[in-house]
Amino acid sequence: MKGYRLMIPGPVEVAPEVLAPMNEAMEPHYGPDWTAYYNETLSLLRKVFRTEGDIFLIPGTGSAAIEACLATAVGGGGRVLIPNNGFFGDRLEAIARSYTAEVEVLKYAIGAPLDLVQIEKALATGRYDLLAVTHCETSIGILNPIRDIGAVCRRHGVRFMVDAVSSLGVDRLEMDAWGIDLCATASQKGLESPPGLGIVAVGPEAWAFLKRQESPGWYLNLTLWQHYADDWADWHPFPITMAVNNVKALRAGIERILTEGMSAREERHRQVCMHLRRKLEGMGFAMCLTDEHTAHGLTAVQAHPEVPVADLLQAVKENDKILMAGSLGALKGKIFRIGHMGPSATVATMDEAVEALSRSLKNLL
Ligand SMILES: Cc1ncc(COP(=O)(O)O)c(C=O)c1O
Repeated sequence: MKGYRLMIPGPVEVAPEVLAPMNEAMEPHYGPDWTAYYNETLSLLRKVFRTEGDIFLIPGTGSAAIEACLATAVGGGGRVLIPNNGFFGDRLEAIARSYTAEVEVLKYAIGAPLDLVQIEKALATGRYDLLAVTHCETSIGILNPIRDIGAVCRRHGVRFMVDAVSSLGVDRLEMDAWGIDLCATASQKGLESPPGLGIVAVGPEAWAFLKRQESPGWYLNLTLWQHYADDWADWHPFPITMAVNNVKALRAGIERILTEGMSAREERHRQVCMHLRRKLEGMGFAMCLTDEHTAHGLTAVQAHPEVPVADLLQAVKENDKILMAGSLGALKGKIFRIGHMGPSATVATMDEAVEALSRSLKNLL
C-alpha cells in the first residue's frame, strides 16, 4: 500500500516530524527524565481536550479508551443511556452491554439528528447514572450536539461520556466547559499521529462518581491508572510498559496542533470541508448530511446512481493512488467517505480529490 494518499477517515497521513520518533532507539519508559517528558505531554494534551482533569495514555486504540471509560463508570453496576445514530453508537452499546445489563438506547436512523427533547425526557426519569454518545459518528459523519447534551446531563445530575475518537483535534470540544466527565479518543485521527494509543480524559468532577463504583478488571480500570499516577508519580506514573515511541510521535502531533492553534485548526477543517462539499455538489453528487449537521473531518457522499461505490473507489485508487473509504454496516455500498483530518486537510488536497473522482467517473460512465 506504499505511495497511496490517505483520504480515509483515519488513520491519517502524518507529518515527517511525527513519523520520525517511531524510528528512534528504544529508551526506558520510567525514570525522572521520561516521567517529566510524559507529564509535559499530558499537560499539552489537556489544552487539546480543554480540561484541567486527568489524562491517561493507554497502549491500544480508541476502542480501548472507550472500554476503559465504560468499564470504570458502569462495569460495577449502573444504568447507561446511549443515544445512537450509527455504527459507532452500536459499538458503544456493545461495549457497554459487555459490562452491564442496564443499557438503554435511544435509537435513531443512521445519520439522523438526535432529539434533545427526548434525551431530556429520558434523563428526567432519574433512571440513569451515565449518558454515553459519539461526538462525530464516523460511519456517516454526523456531528452530535455534545455541548447541548452536556447541559442536559448537568441539569439532571447524570455523568456524561463522549466518544471523540474522530472529532478531537478537528471539531470543537470543550471538556470542562461542556460538562464532559469522560472523553475517549485515539492517536490516529484528529491528533495526527500513528495508531497505537487510546487516550482518556477524566473531568475534574468525575472521580467522586468513579470511585464509588466497584469497577471490574485491571488493564482498563481507570481507578487503577489513577492509583499508579499518584503512587508511582515520581518515576513510572502508569501501571504498564508505556509505548514510548508512540508517545513521542503523539507529542510531535500535539505540538503541531498547538502551534497551529485550536480555533484556527477547527476553522481550517470547517473551510476545507465546505469547499469540498460545494465542489462535489458542483459535480452532481448529493451529500448525505446538511452543512449544519456534518462533522468537519470527513465528508459522506451518496453513491452515484449509475456507478457502484466500489468501482469508483477502485478506479480512484488505481488511477490516482488515492484511497477513499466506503462505509460500514447498513451503509455499505450506499455512500462513500472522504477523510480530511490533520495535515491533508487543505483546499489543494480537496481539489486533487475532486479531480481524481471526476476523471474516474467519466471513465466509468
Ligand atoms: C467514532 C469512533 N469510535 C470508535 C472508533 C474505534 O476506534 P479504534 O479503531 O481506534 O479502536 C472509531 C474508529 O474509526 C470511531 O470513528
